[in-house]
Amino acid sequence: MPTLVCLLLLLLAPAVAAGPLDAPGATSALACSACHGLGGQSPSNTMPILAGIAPWYFKKAIQDYAAGKRPSPEMEPYAKMVLQFGVDEIAAYFAGQARTPSPVKLDAAAVERGRAAAAQCTVCHGASGKGDASKGVPDLTGQPPGYLRNQMLLFKADRRSPGDDTIKAVKALMKTIPDEQFADLAAYWSSVR
Ligand code: HEC
Ligand code: HEC
Repeated sequence: MPTLVCLLLLLLAPAVAAGPLDAPGATSALACSACHGLGGQSPSNTMPILAGIAPWYFKKAIQDYAAGKRPSPEMEPYAKMVLQFGVDEIAAYFAGQARTPSPVKLDAAAVERGRAAAAQCTVCHGASGKGDASKGVPDLTGQPPGYLRNQMLLFKADRRSPGDDTIKAVKALMKTIPDEQFADLAAYWSSVR
């Protein structure tokens, strides 16, 4: 991803700011759109949707990436930038965007298989899948299935926040789930509205 282009966008943005770009945080958020889509509405299967993200979870993810705790060569420099520009404003900007569920096509049979396996997720993510701020659990609904599946694989291999004891329960659960089932679970949670 061309960092230079993003930085240029960021520098140019104030000159063209108008309408929706007047919202605080919107200008900084332009740098994210190359990967996460305009307004955080990712059209891709692998990039998470940021529109409608809970501010507490956004901040945690940014802090984890910036500290290298949640390793991501793509995100680490942008997370550091967000902390510099003001994480609260940018979190509020994305939280204020209505989430349109991922446009990635889902296989109906996979969604049904995933539904049958999803009961083991609801104890933390809730029956609605919308998460629980008091337990530090994020919303899964409408995210691209490829992104959800990949994060499950990263948990299973202890490659997302490796060694972090506060999330060991979710990692232990992923270790009990065969890899083939992740696509079904991902399709199901992506389908939930
Ligand atoms: C070069 C592409 C790229 C750019 C630009 C980018 N991101 Fe990301 N972002 C990613 C990838 C890839 C991931 C998933 C990484 C992982 O596996 O944890 C991600 C994940 C995230 C997550 C975690 C979402 C979740 O559900 O856990 C947040 C929050 C985030 N990005 C915010 C931002 C913000 C804010 C910006 C702009 C300042 C930005 N990103 C710019 C590629 C990018
Ligand atoms: C013991 C509680 C718990 C259970 C059970 C659980 N999760 Fe989670 N899950 C979490 C927590 C906590 C996080 C956030 C971790 C972090 O902050 O990095 C999370 C994050 C995720 C993410 C990453 C979301 C994102 O935006 O990056 C996915 C995907 C996920 N869980 C899927 C599942 C699925 C599918 C199940 C059921 C098979 C499940 N989880 C069961 C606690 C749980």
